[in-house]
Amino acid sequence: MKNKVRKAVIPVAGLGTRLLPATKVVPKELLPIVDTPAIQVIIEEVLASGIEEVILVTGRGKGAIEDHFDHSYELEDVLERRGQTDQLDSVRRISGLVRAVSVRQKFPLGLGHAVLCAKDAVGDEPFAVLLPDDIISSSTPCTRQLIDVFEKYNEGVVSLLRVPETDVDRYGIALGENWAPRLHRIRTLIEKPTREQAPSNLAIIGRYVLPAKIFDFLEETAAGADGEIQLTDALQRLARDRALIGYEFEGERHDIGDKLGFLKCNIRTALLNKEIGPQLRAYLRTMVE
Ligand code: G1P
Repeated sequence: MKNKVRKAVIPVAGLGTRLLPATKVVPKELLPIVDTPAIQVIIEEVLASGIEEVILVTGRGKGAIEDHFDHSYELEDVLERRGQTDQLDSVRRISGLVRAVSVRQKFPLGLGHAVLCAKDAVGDEPFAVLLPDDIISSSTPCTRQLIDVFEKYNEGVVSLLRVPETDVDRYGIALGENWAPRLHRIRTLIEKPTREQAPSNLAIIGRYVLPAKIFDFLEETAAGADGEIQLTDALQRLARDRALIGYEFEGERHDIGDKLGFLKCNIRTALLNKEIGPQLRAYLRTMVE
């Protein structure tokens, strides 16, 4: 099928400055959500969405991310000899999880540039983009929800969420016609607008399904907000010259690049964990009384 989405691009070159000093040496994508590195949570979403191949766009100091998905013979050997079969299974499962290739973003020129670095690895087919700062819990994986919209309409799709008006300057903001439940035909996109400039409070969240045509627009995109090559600016071209659908996804989103968002995501995930959830709930009660 021509519009089948088989590949996902995950930019992991970001510096994680909002979580310093934790991210000075450790890539932010490896910080744990309870016991699972954030990047693994993202890759589990990719796989649950039916995507077979992942393209990691990496930068300096991010080698440990690739190691996480590689075999670790010494560790597996020790766990096997000790009879720690549960741990052994969890470690082996990770290395078998995904077919991943890495491309290097040599200069930190922005999200649009990071996606453009994946051009050759993606080729001439539609692809998903997942930003690992955004963790989304939902009954149907968010990327799958977007793929379903893409396959139905055969146009690029971005995920949207209504945010408080005080927060619009942290996002790409969209305006368009709401033509069906959850669906918007996007006309205007502005990256990190001021409150006065913002055309709405509908923010782009870090899930996209895009046609390969976006690479042509990215190649022609000059530096925009924050002096970076912005994916949002190339999406504005796509919306104008072809079409772009905004989709208000179902699910709860956490911005784990932010201290509070990171903690909320951890607490929510831990409360749902069979092993530690009940004890954590009891502990939290003692704290708020
Ligand atoms: C990026 C995008 C922005 C989007 C946001 C979602 O911004 O450029 O359009 O709204 O992700 O998390 P960043 O958070 O990298 O500054």
